[in-house]
Amino acid sequence: MSSQNKGRRRAYISGLGGYFPENVLTNNDLERMVDTSDEWIRTRTGIVERRIASAHDATSDLSTEASRIAIKNAGLTARQIDLIICATMTPDSLLPATACIIQRNLGNHKAAAFDLSAACSGFIYALSLADSFVRMETYEHVLVIGAETLSKVTDWKDRSTCVLFGDGAGAVVVSASETQSQILSTHLFADGRFSDLLVIPGGGSRFPSTHDTLDKRLHYIRMKGNETFKIAVKSMVTASQTALKHNKISPEQVDLFVAHQANNRIIQAAAQRLGVPDDRVVISLDRFGNTSAASIPTALWDAEQKGKLTRGKMVLLTAFGGGLTWGASLIRW
Ligand code: ACO
Repeated sequence: MSSQNKGRRRAYISGLGGYFPENVLTNNDLERMVDTSDEWIRTRTGIVERRIASAHDATSDLSTEASRIAIKNAGLTARQIDLIICATMTPDSLLPATACIIQRNLGNHKAAAFDLSAACSGFIYALSLADSFVRMETYEHVLVIGAETLSKVTDWKDRSTCVLFGDGAGAVVVSASETQSQILSTHLFADGRFSDLLVIPGGGSRFPSTHDTLDKRLHYIRMKGNETFKIAVKSMVTASQTALKHNKISPEQVDLFVAHQANNRIIQAAAQRLGVPDDRVVISLDRFGNTSAASIPTALWDAEQKGKLTRGKMVLLTAFGGGLTWGASLIRW
């Protein structure tokens, strides 16, 4: 690419992969753990079952599996990856970055690597960075991972949260585009005034781990679900509208609408307000629950496995999550 074209280069998703642990936790299993019912979970969320990582599996293990598939599907080897970004709120540990463990597992000691913390919006935030790095010709191939082992930070005594989450990993390779397949744009937002809606209070510098933080269960996810719900629909709709308007694309032109898989009611309400037809809405939360940063790449992976996601399709991604953070991306696949 000549320097004349610098900044004009476009990026596309050259490979996609996903991975879920084998262990399935059904709503009926949860009925035996907390005061809940299959009926409540299905009607309030749309979730039927979710996957749970084994005791010895960490986020990097799931990520490595998904990454290997994505790299293979991109027609590359791991050594061709220049940068690894892992979006997660459940890193293997506070130090080092999970992306560095994934880099080691992949056997590529030359790639730059870092983690990104934007909760459920993490994948779209990371995709935006990868797109910029490729467009600016800083890197040729960027591996973007959205991965979580939320089961490890779930309070299995709190029925208002433990029925929602699942574990999984999704990965994409973002490469320079030489065809019409392109990431058209990404749009990122945040509002820290709502930072208390979704928290894991303990284990950081505010409440370092002590016996007291353990006793108070501060190391688990806490969520004000109802308040989050209201903001979720509005934020995903405005972010999506921004992406559509920016690219002069109408809602009817969207082939696949892949929203953060938190709650079926939120996704349907957002699609309805946007005017995206029902048959374009991707749902994977019924089988995998809310996997936070993994939700969008694994929903894409699921759609691809079912033959719904093929080259040339107009794909609208949108997510929201803790922070609060939210965003959208429009992709010609
Ligand atoms: N089983 C049975 N009853 C329950 C359960 C349960 N698992 N959980 C809560 N309830 C009860 C409540 O106690 C309440 O009872 P009450 O009326 O007697 O007080 C009643 O059900 C209604 O509770 P709400 O919280 O008002 O239920 P709501 O319809 O809002 O659904 C839910 C809750 C599913 C959490 C919903 O609010 C939601 O999906 N919110 C958004 C979640 C989200 O998307 N989070 C952001 C992304 S996650 C991330 O960033 C990691």
